[in-house]
Amino acid sequence: MADLKHPELEDLLREDRAFAPPADFQARANVADPSIYAEAERDPEAFWGRLAGELEWSRGWDRVLDWQPPHAKWFVGGKLNASVNCLDRHVRGARRNKAALVWEGEPGDRRTLTYFDLYRQVSAFANVLKGLGIKKGDRVGMYLPLIPELVISMLACARSLRDRMNDMKASLLITADGGYRRGQIVPLKQVADEAVADVPSIKNVVVIQRGGQGMPVHIKEGRDHWYHRLMQEAPLACDAEPMDAEDMLYILYTSGTTGKPKGIVHTTGGYLVGTYATAKLVFDLRDDDVYWCTADIGWVTGHSYVVYGPLANGATVFMYEGAPDWPQKDRFWALIERYGITILYTAPTAIRAFMRWGTEWPRRHDLSSLRLLGSVGEPINPEAWIWYYHFIGGDRCPVVDTWWQTETGAIMITPLPGVTTLKPGSATRPFPGISAEIRNERGDAIEVGGGLLALTRPWPAMLRGIYGDPRRYVQQYWSKWGSGVYVTGDGAKRDADGYFWLLGRVDDVINVAGHRIGTMEVESALVDHPSVAEAAVVGRAHEIKGQAIAAFVTLKDGVADGTRSTKDIANELKEHVVKKIGAIARPDDILFTPDLPKTRSGKIMRRLLRDIAEGKALGDMTTLADSAAVEKLKANYEEEYG
Ligand code: WT7
Repeated sequence: MADLKHPELEDLLREDRAFAPPADFQARANVADPSIYAEAERDPEAFWGRLAGELEWSRGWDRVLDWQPPHAKWFVGGKLNASVNCLDRHVRGARRNKAALVWEGEPGDRRTLTYFDLYRQVSAFANVLKGLGIKKGDRVGMYLPLIPELVISMLACARSLRDRMNDMKASLLITADGGYRRGQIVPLKQVADEAVADVPSIKNVVVIQRGGQGMPVHIKEGRDHWYHRLMQEAPLACDAEPMDAEDMLYILYTSGTTGKPKGIVHTTGGYLVGTYATAKLVFDLRDDDVYWCTADIGWVTGHSYVVYGPLANGATVFMYEGAPDWPQKDRFWALIERYGITILYTAPTAIRAFMRWGTEWPRRHDLSSLRLLGSVGEPINPEAWIWYYHFIGGDRCPVVDTWWQTETGAIMITPLPGVTTLKPGSATRPFPGISAEIRNERGDAIEVGGGLLALTRPWPAMLRGIYGDPRRYVQQYWSKWGSGVYVTGDGAKRDADGYFWLLGRVDDVINVAGHRIGTMEVESALVDHPSVAEAAVVGRAHEIKGQAIAAFVTLKDGVADGTRSTKDIANELKEHVVKKIGAIARPDDILFTPDLPKTRSGKIMRRLLRDIAEGKALGDMTTLADSAAVEKLKANYEEEYG
C-alpha cells in the first residue's frame, strides 16, 4: 500500500491518532450521550423494545425475546408490515412530499420520487403482482439495474406477499430491457430469456423499459408483460398485509466454507428494528440529509442500508445506476456536489481505487455538503481511512467503520459518530445492546489481544436460519463454544481501550472487494469444467480489492496437447467460473501444475499455496510428500505472476 500514501497525509498518519467527535457534529447528533451503552447493557430487551416502539405495529408484541439457544424469536406476537413502516407511516405525517428516492442514471437522466410517489407506485405494483396471480408462498426473482423500480419491486413484495424468496424456483421474474454500464447497454432481458429457458417454474416475466428506444426486446406472448402497461391499469390503493414479526422477509445467499452457498433467512420484525435503529444512530440520519450508500441492492448492504433502514427512518436516499469512473473518474464527486449529499457509505476497495486514481478528481468538486462518511465490507487500512477522512471528508466528517455480516442483518461493531473517539482502522465498539468478545480456540475470553470474534447474546436482526438446512445453522454458527455463542468466522483483536480491530476471515472464505467468496465454491466450479482434474483456490493480498483469487489447477491428461495455449485454457476456466458463480468470483491467477502439494495423508496444503501466491518464503514443509515439486511450483508462479 505504500505507494498509495500521499505526502499531505504524513502528519495525520504520523502516530496513533485518535479523532474525537467534532463539537458542531456532536451538538446536533441523534446521540451524543455515551450513557446509551449503559442503558442497553442494563436491560438489552428493554433497549430494543424502546427502539421497536418507534416503528408502527398493527399489533403490539407480547414478549420482546424468546431465546431457546440458538433459536430466537423477537417481538413475539407482534404484527407489522415493512412497506408500511417505510412508506405509509411517513405519508401520513410531515414527510408526505419529502424526496424518498433521488436517482441518477449512468447517462445522466434523473428522477425524484417523493414518499407519496413511492407509496402510490409500490401499492400499484403490489396490485399488479396480485393480478398476475402471485400469492403467499410464491417466489419472485429480480434481475434489475439500480433503478427506482428495484426498490418499488422489493417494497411491493413486502407489502403483499409472505414467505417470498428469490431462489430459482421463482414463478415471477422482474427484469428490465437493459441497464447502463460504462456507456454500454447491458441486454438484461436477453440474458434473462436465456436463464428463464432453464427455469420452468417461471410463469410470468415483467419487463421495465430502461434501455430506451432501439433496444431490441423479444416479448413472449402470454409470459412477458411491459411494466408500464401493467402499471397504467393497476388500481393505486393496496392495503398492506399485516405480517407476523417472525414472518420471513427475504433470503440472501452468501458464501460459506463448503461448496454450497447458504440461504440466510431474515424475518420482518427484528430485522426492521435492527436496520432502523442502526441507520438512525450510526448514520445519525436527520430529515435534511441526502444519504448515499453506494452498494448494489442485490447484496445485504443494499437491502439493509439502501432500502429498509433509511426508508424506515424517512430519509432521502440517493441512488446511482452506473460505474464510478464513467464518463470520468470524478463521477462520485460530481454527484455529491450536484445533489448535496451529506452522508456517504462505501467500501474500502472503492476508496483504494479512488486513491490510485489520484486526488485531482475529488479536488475538482465542492464536497462541503458531506458531514459523515461510512465504510463497510472489509477491514479499512489506516492509509485508506485517513485518505478518505482528509480528501473526501475535509478533516470535518467522522468516519464510521461498520463491521457486520449478511447473517447479522444489521451493523454490529461501529462507532456512534456523536459519541465515539475514532481510531483509523478500528471499527471501535459493539453497537449498544450487542455483546462481542475475543476468544481463543478453547473459548476463553481475551480482554486485550487477538483471537476469534464471537457474539455472546442474540440481537433482533440476527439470521433465523439457513434456508432448508436447520442442522447447518446450528453447526456452522452456534456449536464451537456452546449454543448461546455465535461464531463470526472473523479474527479480531481488542486493545487496552476496549476497541475492536477486525483482522479478516479465519476460515476458507476470502473477501474480494467486500464480497465473500468461499474457496470451495470456486474449486467446485473449476472441477466442474471437463478439462480440470483437481483445483485448489486460495486468497492472496491485493492492493485495491483487499484479496484476489489464486487458483492452482491440475488438468486432465491430454488437455494440454498443444492445440490450445495454456493462456486460452486459463481464460476458458475463468469464464466458466464467472458463468457458474458470477463475475466477482473470476480467478485473478490460474497456475497449471501436474501435482498439488499434499501432506502424506493427502490433504492439500493451502498454507503453502497461499505463501506461493503472496510471494512469501515457504514455511515448514516437513509434512509434505514432495517438497521439490513445491519449490518448482513457486518458481513457476513467480515467473507467471511475480
Ligand atoms: C464479512 C461479511 C457487512 C455487509 C457486507 C459484507 C467482512 C464486513 C467489515 C469491516 C472488517 C469487515 C468480515 C465479515 N467485513 N465489514 N467494517 N471491517 N471486516 O457482508 O458478504 O456477509 O461479509 O465481511 O470478514 O465476516 P458479507
